[in-house]
Amino acid sequence: MNPEEVVLLLADEYSRMAETYDRNVTPHFAPIAERVLHAADPKPGELFLDLGTGTGLLACLVAPKVAPQSVVAIDLADGAIAAATYRAAGLGIKSIRFEMMDVRNIVYRGGLFDAVVSNLGIPYFGTDRCFRETARVLKPTGRFVFSEWGEFPDPPQEALMAALNRHRNPDPPRKLAEVRAASEFARTSDAFRGLRDPKRVESLLRAAGFRRVAFEPLRHRATFDPPESYLDFRLSWGVFEAEVAGMVPGSRDAFTKEMVRELRSLAKGKPLEADWLLYLYSARAE
Ligand SMILES: C[S@@+](CC[C@H](N)C(=O)[O-])C[C@H]1O[C@@H](n2cnc3c(N)ncnc32)[C@H](O)[C@@H]1O
Repeated sequence: MNPEEVVLLLADEYSRMAETYDRNVTPHFAPIAERVLHAADPKPGELFLDLGTGTGLLACLVAPKVAPQSVVAIDLADGAIAAATYRAAGLGIKSIRFEMMDVRNIVYRGGLFDAVVSNLGIPYFGTDRCFRETARVLKPTGRFVFSEWGEFPDPPQEALMAALNRHRNPDPPRKLAEVRAASEFARTSDAFRGLRDPKRVESLLRAAGFRRVAFEPLRHRATFDPPESYLDFRLSWGVFEAEVAGMVPGSRDAFTKEMVRELRSLAKGKPLEADWLLYLYSARAE
């Protein structure tokens, strides 16, 4: 397995899970997207590009601010693009051009955009190419604002990974074996760790031509009420959903029971609170 195969396989998983992701994940990511929106400060008439738009969360926040100008929003997962189009239509927004496109190869002319933004949509494989492409399509005075994960203790996620390891199918069918290999390749890669390290992200931004780079920690407390709704959140990622769907029935029941017990115990009789560490980056060429 190589990084490009992993990128395509995981994009397929985002496509497959897009509607579920939109229902269970975007409400938790919305406050983070709001922070990106605030830092990017879109003005009427500015042309914005949203990278890794997913189901269009950030693009739909930007669009009313830059109207009557349109927003361009790109993602590799066609299923996510379909869900994003649906989200925009539901909000009565007609000014977003959603396109299936790789953020590492942005098929737009140089010097076009006033701002490029992203909410958790920067790829770990090819971060350098993504940043170079972003620098190319921005106007010389343009700004690049995005959020990405940091490293932090994550007890619910650790409990999930341990329970998946205990109960996963030891003899997975071909598709599950592929998705599992892709996920393990990604999670153990240096590129994955690199994107979570603000110092390494900063140096990639500088290498791409951004001379002014700033980042700040963005702490967010995500609340899951009831605690077991954390499972709906995490199983909206294709790789985890596929593991649970691929378990033999007895193991799946045991997995669910153990997870519910552990999540309730972590929550100590209250809603489950997860303290996330992210970073908010702002970069400019001049
Ligand atoms: C964690 S999701 C974030 C989605 C959305 N921005 C949000 O806030 O909910 C990451 C998104 O990046 C997309 N993505 C990953 N690698 C990509 C690439 N190389 N080019 C375009 N999109 C990519 C995935 O398909 C996925 O929709």
